[in-house]
Amino acid sequence: MPIIAPSLLSANFLQLEKDCNMLNESQADWFHLDVMDGRFVPNISFGPMIVEFISKATTKVCDVHLMIEEPEKYAEQFKNAGANILTVHLEACKHLHRNIQQIKSLGMKAGVAINPHTPVSLLEDILYDIDLVCLMSVNPGFGGQKFIPQTIEKIKQLKTMCVQKNLKTYIEIDGGVTLDNADSIIKAGANVLVAGNTVFKASNPINAIAELKSK
Ligand code: DX5
Ligand code: ZN
Repeated sequence: MPIIAPSLLSANFLQLEKDCNMLNESQADWFHLDVMDGRFVPNISFGPMIVEFISKATTKVCDVHLMIEEPEKYAEQFKNAGANILTVHLEACKHLHRNIQQIKSLGMKAGVAINPHTPVSLLEDILYDIDLVCLMSVNPGFGGQKFIPQTIEKIKQLKTMCVQKNLKTYIEIDGGVTLDNADSIIKAGANVLVAGNTVFKASNPINAIAELKSK
């Protein structure tokens, strides 16, 4: 069964507590929290303060996706805010290996996200050091975009790399995941599904999560 990580970016921020409680009662495994700085991506979302409020409202895993430049400046703040997994973008890091070591030394699991144009082969030498790869299946910055179909091939390539290296890395797919494409995403080798609109724009989010979970 896949790990389901609803993205709170699509939640209603005027009733965050209600949405957190809904997720707490659902089959969601992780809370996916999208941090955007208006520099690495053309949008600004929220920072450690909101992450802290959310992490205190759940006992589930807080999976923090940093779409920011110079993530090393903020890793400790996100740890203190309750992040369990901290994912940085390969494209945003000059010294990715150093950043990963920092995240792990702070006691969090470490993830690397890659944009749709970045080849999976660039992960070859960092794969041994990380817990999670986040394959962006849309260009990062906004919820509610359309899944880029070439991602399926990238999932297969990454899965093969992990099997060859005997690694149990989480393969997380982020962007445009729906009830219709979830099957093929999982079949290709992914084991973590991020879902924003599919969950929060559903008439019954709890059911939408259960359906994703049953894939
Ligand atoms: C996009 C974010 C995603 C986004 C997913 O930059 O990283 O996590 O919220 O939203 P949906 O599932 O609506 O594409
Ligand atoms: Zn994300």
